[in-house]
Order: sequence, then structure tokens, then C-alpha cells
Amino acid sequence: MKRYKIASIPGDGIGKEVIPECEKVLKALSKKYSEVTFEFERFDWGGDYYRKHGVMMPEDGLDSLRSKDAILFGSAGDPKIPDHITLWGLRLKICQGFDQYANVRPTRILPGIESPLRNCKSNQLDWVIVRENSEGEYSGLGGRAHQGHPIEVASDMSILTRVGVERIQRYAFKLAQARPRKHITVITKSNAQRHAMVMWDEIAAQIATEFPDVTWDKELVDAATARMVNHPQSLDTIVATNLHADVLSDLAAALAGSLGIAPTGNIDPECRYPSMFEPIHGSAFDIMGKGLANPIGTFWSAVMMLDFLGEKSMGAQLMQAIEKVTADPRLHTRDLGGAAMMSDVTNAVIKEILQ
Ligand code: IPM
Ligand code: MG
Repeated sequence: MKRYKIASIPGDGIGKEVIPECEKVLKALSKKYSEVTFEFERFDWGGDYYRKHGVMMPEDGLDSLRSKDAILFGSAGDPKIPDHITLWGLRLKICQGFDQYANVRPTRILPGIESPLRNCKSNQLDWVIVRENSEGEYSGLGGRAHQGHPIEVASDMSILTRVGVERIQRYAFKLAQARPRKHITVITKSNAQRHAMVMWDEIAAQIATEFPDVTWDKELVDAATARMVNHPQSLDTIVATNLHADVLSDLAAALAGSLGIAPTGNIDPECRYPSMFEPIHGSAFDIMGKGLANPIGTFWSAVMMLDFLGEKSMGAQLMQAIEKVTADPRLHTRDLGGAAMMSDVTNAVIKEILQ
């Protein structure tokens, strides 16, 4: 009997809707696989918590997560609280506190979903973006001085360390090696960013020698956006710095049909800390509380969590159920142009699982 301790952090907006749905789906899975159970502990951190306590999560919050096997996260963001506070006070605090240095973002066109790319067949877009998740443009270094005065100055420092670059590229090459294509594209901007990104390129070339069976190429981040649109089939695994990958992954999700579908994992490959899984969409305040959210991004994130925990057949079963459901246009939520409610999608996925 395996018992996984999962921390669920719904956070804000539609995160509060999709996370409970995901718990239901995981409970249904454990009904089917009776040797595995999930024990959820909910944490009510986020915007409302901030209004009450002045912080997004308690000071010792990380300690209450430390012993968990994984974290399911909804979203953080609140129209009445500045974004940098919601982000740094919760999500990044966990990502950086637990050194979840690999952010993994698979993108595929799921059955029944239409890509906005006119001529793209579903088998021509199958990517995994590996996003450096601990430094780069999100290092948090920088500052402001002389606020409000004409001489005001502000800086955000992007830093890359050799340790940080080696570990993310090694992780990405390994992931590429495990995929059928065994190909990786290293995203760069070393033409303009002439220090850190040049080191990034050098380290890529060095890591590539450790993986002789993996082919690789290099693409400037701006050119990469055009390549994703014009030649999606030329890409497979993609590794990029924090901000570059942030931008590319929204483009990737949109090209695959909807931001509502895309999943992500914030992973500590060394398993020193729990890893965290979340849908890529934000808190979406415009549709919150109406039951309109697409829960597929969260369910797919749960697939990533199950794979990471080593429960591959459970993960495969959930993915199969997801794909059965997306294939039916009557079960498409509004972001996909359909009229289905979130609960319709959840119920259909559960029904597939229990069949
Ligand atoms: C993402 C999001 C976040 C990020 C936002 C919410 C700050 O866009 O996970 O990609 O930029 O990291
Ligand atoms: Mg983003």
C-alpha cells in the first residue's frame, strides 16, 4: 500500500475551483488502483490570506510542505494586490525555497483540439520546454533608489551561474535523450546579451558532449518564435532561460489550442524537496467562481505528478482519460469555444477512469 502525502494549494481565482476538481480525479484513480492512496492537506494561502495576515503564506510555510511527496498548486494572482507581491510571496517562494530548478512544460495538440496553425497536424507539434527556474531574469536581485525623484533608479539583474546552467542543461539533455526524437534546441540571445548568454552557449556545447546520441541545435529566442509558428515539427525538446522560456511557453500553449490545457511541473530533480505541479494558466479573475474554468491543465499537471512519483501506469491512465474527453467537442469549455462547464469535464474524466 502506497500512501502519498499531497499538499494542495488552490491559491487565487480559478485555482480555487480547479484544485478541488483535481483532488476528486485523483481520488477516483485511487479507487481504481486500490494499492495507492492520496492524503491531501489543503493550504489556504494566497490573496485572501494576505488580506488577513499581510503575507501570502506564513513565515514557516515551507516547513509544513517539506514532508509532502508533492505539491498541487492552482494559481496566484489577485486584482487588488500587486502581482510582484502575490508572485514572490507564494509561488516563487516555494519554487526558490525548494530549489525546484527545472520547470518542465510539455505541449501537444490533444485529440479534438484545434491549433490556430492552419496547416499543423497534431503529430507535428510535440514539444517539451525546459525552463530554468531558479535564476536568470528571475534572480530577484536588483533594487530601487530615490523613489519618486527625477534621479530615481531601478534595476533587475539577470544572473546565470555555471552550476545553475550546467544542471538545467544536463537535465534537459537527459530529458531529450529519453524522448523518441532525441533532439534538443538550445534557446539563446548571445548576440545581444554578450556575457551570461555566451557562457550559456559554451556550457550547452560542453553538456552536448556528454550526450553523443542526442542531436542539438541553437536558436535565438526571437527567431524561435517564428520557427515555432512556421516549422513546429522541427522542434522537440527546448531548453531556455527563465524569462525566455516563460514567453515561449505561452506561445506554445496558445499554438496547441489553449492556455487552459497546458500543464507544468516545478521539479527538484534531486528530490531533496517536494516538487510542485500546476496548470500554466493564471488565476483568470474574469471567469472565477462561475464554474467555467478548464480543469484539463490541472489534470495534465497531475499526470506529470504521477509520473514523477513513479506511478507511470496511473499517469498513463489519467492521460488516456483526458484525451478521450478532449476528443469530444461537447466536453469543451469556453476557452476551447465550447459550452461545457468545468464539472462536466471533471465528471467525464472520472467516468473514463472508473470504466
Ligand atoms: C508562468 C507565469 C508566471 C511567470 C507569472 C504568473 C509571474 O507566467 O508560470 O509562466 O512568469 O513565471
Ligand atoms: Mg508565463
